[in-house]
Amino acid sequence: MIILGIETSCDETAAAVVLKTKNRIQILSNVVASSAVLQAKYGGVIPEQAAREQIKSIIPVIETAIDDSRLTINDIDAIAVTFGPGLIGSLLVGVETAKTLALVWKKPLIPVNHLIGHFYANWINRSTVYGLPSTAEVGSRKSEDLPILFPCLGLLVSGGHTDLVLFTNHGKYKYLGGTRDDAAGECFDKCARLLGLPYPGGPEIAKLAKKGSPKAFDLPRPMLEKGDFSAKGGPAYGWDFSFSGLKTAVANLIHRPTDTPISSDLTDLAASIEAAIVEVLVEKTVKAAQMYKVDQIMIAGGVAANQKLKESLESRIKSQELNIKLHVPEANLCTDNAAMIAAAAFFNYHPIDPLKLQVNPNLSLINNP
Ligand code: KG4
Ligand code: ZN
Repeated sequence: MIILGIETSCDETAAAVVLKTKNRIQILSNVVASSAVLQAKYGGVIPEQAAREQIKSIIPVIETAIDDSRLTINDIDAIAVTFGPGLIGSLLVGVETAKTLALVWKKPLIPVNHLIGHFYANWINRSTVYGLPSTAEVGSRKSEDLPILFPCLGLLVSGGHTDLVLFTNHGKYKYLGGTRDDAAGECFDKCARLLGLPYPGGPEIAKLAKKGSPKAFDLPRPMLEKGDFSAKGGPAYGWDFSFSGLKTAVANLIHRPTDTPISSDLTDLAASIEAAIVEVLVEKTVKAAQMYKVDQIMIAGGVAANQKLKESLESRIKSQELNIKLHVPEANLCTDNAAMIAAAAFFNYHPIDPLKLQVNPNLSLINNP
């Protein structure tokens, strides 16, 4: 089966042609046009501008994705599209285009929740193999290519979301908790802005952090200790996150009365910010995996591209000799792309009448089955 994926939830216009065979998810083309450089001028995404850029890019991006795949429209079995959450203007461009194409080309249309889509980047792994390995493949495989088994704990860390979710199967999950204010990526972006770094700030902070000391500044680790972590209910806000206080602590540091300009501390501050965000994410995720007795963790979203997060999770799992397998998507599949949307559609194949599909900018992972 071959699916054309379309993703336009924020400032990326993306289309991908993805093939699923018995035990393979293979990307035939993956095109991402980003207006982030344009947005960077203003320090963040301006929704109207992002939507205008989506309109300019959507048709050329879809055309390029089909051309790159070396297939024709006839070879495509279905169209998958992100219908939320995201910026309404941006979402509308992708959804209305997908609806039109589905009607004109007479293809089934599969709506995909962007947040669920992020997790499915994990099914497109390094060797583009998913599912149980065939005998021929076992010998050549590395441990990171092993399949994802359920139950699996998912940590989504993106620009707009920080969510902990327990997956028991495809389309079956329990929402454990999420951010009460800023998301992890948003915290990276806002702290970067305070430090005078360009948007998106996550990769910029990560770059500087490599040269700094993570212990130089004593920044808060929000909501690490508080709350009830019981797996059986109770006031389970223990799985929630909050990063706005961390951002305020950084703002206070920057505006502190001192003769030393902040530029002299920039690498140390970047390393300390990264360490604080990563420690909260790692501790809560590992604690949840232990509490719910799962031996699989997958991370997803733009912040999953962060090297320190991957290394810290790995070393935390190893140091305690926890029998947990960690799944991390390839870095270019962590940030927004349409291959993950198509991958999600293969496993959650629920076509909808194109005339009935509407965008839902506030779609979340809460209250789903
Ligand atoms: O998933 P994504 O592309 O878009 C959303 O759905 O939000 O995530 C974008 C976020 C931005 O906040 C960006 O700063 C962050 O991911 N990000 C990173 C890294 N690469 C992207 N944060 C930390 N380290 C990185 N290497
Ligand atoms: Zn995203």
